[in-house]
Amino acid sequence: MTMSLLLTWAAFTLLSRVFGSANGNCSTYVFSDSRRVFESCEDLPVLSAHLHWTYLRSTKRVQVAYRASQSPGGWVAWAVNPTSIGMIGAQAIVAFRDTNGTMAAYTSRVESYAEALEPGKLSFGTTNVSAEYREREGEVIVYAVVGPFENGTSKVNQVWQEGRVKDGVPQMHSLNGVNLQSMGEIDFLSS
Ligand SMILES: *[C@@H]1O[C@H](CO)[C@@H](O)[C@H](O)[C@H]1NC(C)=O
Ligand SMILES: *[C@@H]1O[C@H](CO)[C@@H](O)[C@H](O)[C@H]1NC(C)=O
Ligand SMILES: *[C@@H]1O[C@H](CO)[C@@H](O)[C@H](O)[C@H]1NC(C)=O
Ligand SMILES: *[C@@H]1O[C@H](CO)[C@@H](O)[C@H](O)[C@H]1NC(C)=O
Repeated sequence: MTMSLLLTWAAFTLLSRVFGSANGNCSTYVFSDSRRVFESCEDLPVLSAHLHWTYLRSTKRVQVAYRASQSPGGWVAWAVNPTSIGMIGAQAIVAFRDTNGTMAAYTSRVESYAEALEPGKLSFGTTNVSAEYREREGEVIVYAVVGPFENGTSKVNQVWQEGRVKDGVPQMHSLNGVNLQSMGEIDFLSS
């Protein structure tokens, strides 16, 4: 029994390493538009996701690029939750490739678990929202400039998510383990 538990643990550790490295290293990533350069980045622990950012000290705003694995017909979202931890109250930027091939990218406030991610204004400033689909990597990238956050803080709770799109509408994300671990604190002044 102990032996099989140990073996399971060893296999799990090995798999996390393999998937961890397959998840890539954000600091070597090059954006297709060479004018897109960010000062800092973080490989997020789940959902093959990465956040790149530049903190603009003078305005306390942040230029961000959120990249995540996704197939056509799926949505990705990156959000800041200024008031609590987790999805409820999250201020999200959502993106997906529409069936006609155009990219949808918009902001959405998450008020409940059940709702579709409907377009809405966020509680903090959000500009320059756009998205791109990278066919080769199978990734959706969302760009935006966000902030300043409440009290001018550089440290916020972040949440990221993914799910399927049906008839042009993002559907509820799955409740698999990784979809419930996709949150954490981020300090945009760290690098
Ligand atoms: C990522 O790449 C950078 C630059 O090549 C390197 O310094 C860093 O150690 C790498 N990080 C990981 C986790 O592999
Ligand atoms: C693609 O579909 C979306 C929503 O269904 C629509 O808003 C957009 O105008 C369409 N774009 C083109 C180029 O047809
Ligand atoms: C937002 O987009 C505008 C127009 O493309 C550009 O001039 C401006 O520099 C962008 N702002 C930031 C903070 O990146
Ligand atoms: C902002 O500052 C006020 C007063 O210091 C504090 O009560 C409030 O909790 C702060 N809000 C956040 C989101 O940190």
